[in-house]
Amino acid sequence: MARMLSAEENDILTRVGPGTPMGKMMRRFWMPICTSAQVSEPDGDPLRLKLLGESFVLFRDTNGEIGVLDELCMHRGVSLALGRVEDCGIRCLYHGWKFGVDGTIMDTPNNTNPRFKQRMKAPAYPVREAGGLVWIYIGPKECRPEFPHFEFMNGPAEHRAVIRLNTRANYLQLLEGGTDSSHVGILHSNQANPTWMKDEFTARDDEDFNPGALASSDNAPTLEIEDTSFGYHYVAKRKGPRAEDGAPTVSVRVTPVFLPVGRIIPAPAYQFFVFEVPQNDYVTSTYIITHGNKPIDRGEIIRIMGLKEPFWNDQDCNFRADWSNGMGQDRAKMATNWTGFDGIEQEDAILAVSMGPILDRTKEHMVAADRAVIHLRARLLESVQRHEKGESPISHEIVDYTPVRSLPDTVIREGERWQDLVPGNSTVGV
Ligand code: FES
Ligand SMILES: [Fe+2]
Repeated sequence: MARMLSAEENDILTRVGPGTPMGKMMRRFWMPICTSAQVSEPDGDPLRLKLLGESFVLFRDTNGEIGVLDELCMHRGVSLALGRVEDCGIRCLYHGWKFGVDGTIMDTPNNTNPRFKQRMKAPAYPVREAGGLVWIYIGPKECRPEFPHFEFMNGPAEHRAVIRLNTRANYLQLLEGGTDSSHVGILHSNQANPTWMKDEFTARDDEDFNPGALASSDNAPTLEIEDTSFGYHYVAKRKGPRAEDGAPTVSVRVTPVFLPVGRIIPAPAYQFFVFEVPQNDYVTSTYIITHGNKPIDRGEIIRIMGLKEPFWNDQDCNFRADWSNGMGQDRAKMATNWTGFDGIEQEDAILAVSMGPILDRTKEHMVAADRAVIHLRARLLESVQRHEKGESPISHEIVDYTPVRSLPDTVIREGERWQDLVPGNSTVGV
């Protein structure tokens, strides 16, 4: 149970640059690279973006098409993020070379040979926009999978709130937090049990978008894990209240984890789809897409996440808490606020930053409640090994993820099957 990782395994799991085993495996998937809101205007400012240790420039052209090119100009390497976005292309400031969204060379003012433009192309990447996100594929051309479909891509945009934050921590520190049910009732005490300071439990039922809502004060849940074609799902079982007829119950909470970087966190009336996308080994873009069957107040989601100035803003999305500003912790309010922070995602991100850029996992002391985290590492390593052997990584073949569901804290009778409450999870991709 409590096996530590070797230094070598930790390295394989956390290093994502070009040529690394994990980096190569992740390059087989479509990944979000920014939100649609960040590039809403045709001919608006270009974005300088990083994914898996590589740098890109992204722009929306005059016709509304999005282009993603290597950041540095193919001529002599000036950043195209400084360039002019105009007349259906992006123009480098240095010598005026201009490129279309597909990398076509439209103009080379310092080279009048017309054959040159026709012979060459700037490196450009396939792009899709869906679910309020811009997705790109940077892996080998011949291995490109079909574009995946997630449930949050359905329905009207008002039923969805998209939030991005860029945190200075390796992706695995954030992803592990998302598959670690036993922290919810402790770290997120303010949301899971607002009367924790009186040593009594009060379930929160006032907010149907609260992912910290628990029906039980049991902080040592029993975990059951089951592999699926997309990765695995697991249930955290907490002691539930007695049923009316006195029968024993359990409170179950199910989280599906789709490899390599996604999961669904349950809330009473919404699902939180979360992707931990590595910009490089040390910085992660977290995309949180809250989705349900009714309109969402995005401002409320941002509030419950605890995201606000001066530590985060909606424009650059960079999460700024670090030790130079005390992580933004207000210790004076800790008599009534468990963490001294303002909300769930702020708490998760700060804890990941506090581990340092890449945690040394050879020094941990795992317990039974960490089983889903141990399983995450095992499945990621398995997927890397499969890919190294020339097979498809886990989850790679799945196109339609829409049947996959999380389950918020739900009280069932002892002995009832939790899998029956999320039937799509076992059938998808089979
Ligand atoms: S470096 Fe971009 S045009 Fe010369
Ligand atoms: Fe959390």
